[in-house]
Amino acid sequence: MANPDIAIVILAAGKGTRLKSALAKVLHRAGGRPLVEHVVRACQPLKSREIIAVVGHQAEDVTAAVAPLGVKTALQQPQRGTGHAMQVARRAIPARVKFAILLPGDAPLIRTETLAALAAAHRESGAAATILSAEIENPAGYGRIVRRDDGSVSAIVEDSALSADQRAIREINSSIYCFSLDKLWPCLASLKPQNVHKELYLTDAIAVLRQKGENVQAVLAADPDEVLGCNTRSDLAAVDAVFRRRKRAAVMDDGVTLELPDTIVIDPNVTIGADTRIEPGVQLLGHTRIGAGCTVRAGSILSDAVLEDNVLVKPYSIVTASHLSTGVQVGPFAHLRDGARLEENARVGNFVEVKKSVLGEGVKSMHLTYLGDARIGNGTNIGAGTITCNYDGVNKNPTTIGKRVFIGSDSALVAPVRIGDGAYVGAGSVITKNVPPDALGLARGQQVNKLGWAEMRRREMAVIAKPAKSRSRKKAKRKTSRMKK
Ligand code: UD1
Ligand code: MG
Repeated sequence: MANPDIAIVILAAGKGTRLKSALAKVLHRAGGRPLVEHVVRACQPLKSREIIAVVGHQAEDVTAAVAPLGVKTALQQPQRGTGHAMQVARRAIPARVKFAILLPGDAPLIRTETLAALAAAHRESGAAATILSAEIENPAGYGRIVRRDDGSVSAIVEDSALSADQRAIREINSSIYCFSLDKLWPCLASLKPQNVHKELYLTDAIAVLRQKGENVQAVLAADPDEVLGCNTRSDLAAVDAVFRRRKRAAVMDDGVTLELPDTIVIDPNVTIGADTRIEPGVQLLGHTRIGAGCTVRAGSILSDAVLEDNVLVKPYSIVTASHLSTGVQVGPFAHLRDGARLEENARVGNFVEVKKSVLGEGVKSMHLTYLGDARIGNGTNIGAGTITCNYDGVNKNPTTIGKRVFIGSDSALVAPVRIGDGAYVGAGSVITKNVPPDALGLARGQQVNKLGWAEMRRREMAVIAKPAKSRSRKKAKRKTSRMKK
């Protein structure tokens, strides 16, 4: 699908006043990506001569978003309307290019197939301009397509300029066009700011083309959702919902079970293997990769996580930039982050946080624990409430725990420290020195049992309590007799 005679122009200079935002409109996100990135990705497979983004408002940030995708930019400063934006783009379009596909950067649902069909229709009819239009239920806010009896387009009328009759038109301008550039350039030069915003409207170029006797066509998008623009926060939410629905449908087609799918958020780059089950309220974000036969239970949030096969993530767990090997089980309420790696069949339970640590095969850490900068050998058991004290206020220090070690509950391992293979650490220890292999490390106060102490204490308390009690009873009696009177 190569189109070396076409340049693609994406209009991305506008502020997006109606969003009431400090962020440029095209950088707002829907479906897990900035709006403009969706548009660029839809254009890329057309293999056009160039993709040019017209930038203006927050030009640097918008450029930073599109440049890595191979998009060139043309600076529109100040922004004097969509017609002016196309004049600016002209400087970046190589002279011998015959056609331009123009798209707004704020309509991210457009699909490659639709753009290819638009270009094909344009080539076939030989029109000066072909507009992608759509019939939508609520056309308020959009420019409307006014057709002649022969079906060709006579004008695009902006919402604010509609006559009473024209208001009934449901066919709208998507702001996606294919132009024959030799016909467009003279019309752009003659545009005048004939509107309250004092802007040059590209839509007025259509009427100019008609006045010159040129042919203008409109082709209807098969799916009206594809042309939805994001001018308001409500528009953003509606568009996001469409993206999310598309992605969920795709993963279900791949053999994934989604329970109450409408509650599940899956970013575009996430992959999921067959027979994996995702429960309600789960978010799968970034570049998360999930294998086959996994279960991600309710309310869990996975970002840039890798799950091999048959992994179980129990409810309300957070997994960020971590690797869970085959058969691993974590949660409920587990927090794995920043390069945690759990080898096969390792288990992490509730209120356990793991950071930059490797847990070997079959390691268990089931309750109330912090493991940071630690390496833990196969088959080791970490007792409830264990803490690796990895930070001394200046540096992060490592904890190395060998294979088949038993760390008793409520132990503090003050790093840097090593616990040898097969060693034990007694519960409640504060371990500051290395424990050799197969040794017992014990570092806690000696227990003293004072026999009969409790019985003595109770007797003392009874003696002290008696006079006080009788005093308060007399007081209470006096009070109630007064009340009766
Ligand atoms: C535009 C169309 C309208 C169409 C609608 C579809 C015009 C005058 N109107 O209206 O017919 O139904 O899109 O969504 O074209 N931009 C620039 N530079 C500027 C102004 C805008 O780059 O000086 C960019 C914006 O960033 C945006 C796009 O052009 O990505 C469209 O501008 P916007 O203000 O959203 O136009 P609409 O009012 O939506
Ligand atoms: Mg718009």
